[in-house]
Amino acid sequence: MSTQARRRTPRASVRRILELKREGKKIVAMSAYDVVFGALMEEAEIDLILVGDSVGTACLGYDSTLPVTMDDMIHHARAVKRGAPGTLVVLDMPFMTYQISVEEALRNAGRALQEAGVEAVKVEGGHERTCEAIRAMVVSGIPVMGHIGLTPQSVHALGGYRVQGREAEDADRLRAEALALQDAGVFSTVLELVPAPLARDISASLTIPTIGIGAGPWCDGQVLVAYDALGLNPGFTPKFLKQFARLHELALQGVRDFAREVREGTYPGPEHSIQGD
Ligand code: KIV
Repeated sequence: MSTQARRRTPRASVRRILELKREGKKIVAMSAYDVVFGALMEEAEIDLILVGDSVGTACLGYDSTLPVTMDDMIHHARAVKRGAPGTLVVLDMPFMTYQISVEEALRNAGRALQEAGVEAVKVEGGHERTCEAIRAMVVSGIPVMGHIGLTPQSVHALGGYRVQGREAEDADRLRAEALALQDAGVFSTVLELVPAPLARDISASLTIPTIGIGAGPWCDGQVLVAYDALGLNPGFTPKFLKQFARLHELALQGVRDFAREVREGTYPGPEHSIQGD
């Protein structure tokens, strides 16, 4: 391998994510959508950045993730990757980019790696049809992350954003889906909005790591959407969410101070003005 290629090897790779589980170390993941947050997460040494299709609701103002396109994802993932060249970046495959056929799944996953420069993709669901697409991606050298439990692309089929796996039958289906995803070759799977004891059982049954969101403390790692975790989305307060910063309040104060000073004529003052001499 050339020196240059070696230099480009990401600090956090898919292999490293698997090692972290074997070493019993927690995996830290966050969803980001632009270069600013990508760079912030690289500086904070996050293990994995997910360019989530939550970009649709968190960043683009849609009611759900369903309108998000592959072009949207590539646009945002390229920006994140520019900010985080040394971090493992996973592109979330949007609705209908991997469900129609294995060929379309492969073509779109290939675009993610070639055009966005990410290292892996994520797909929702553990049905056999999804596993078929995953197997095709994995044999083509595309690392894939799974996502079960609440799968937001199926919001209409699930009847809303609700906890999954409360009933025994539903819990058994999720256990089976997790094993099917592992057999299909995913390097990890998200568990979203499932009871903590179920997430613990699933995590213990797998050799690949589980990354939880609203799935309790026993997952192998945790993921949060950065805007939510940093308090940029103050109206979003589900039980599982902790706000680690209050950026909305800080930013609002900053915008108000800017507006006031412009209106008063105190900004820009001499120290912020370019003098003619
Ligand atoms: O879209 C997203 O950001 C996600 C995570 C919340 C897991 O799927």
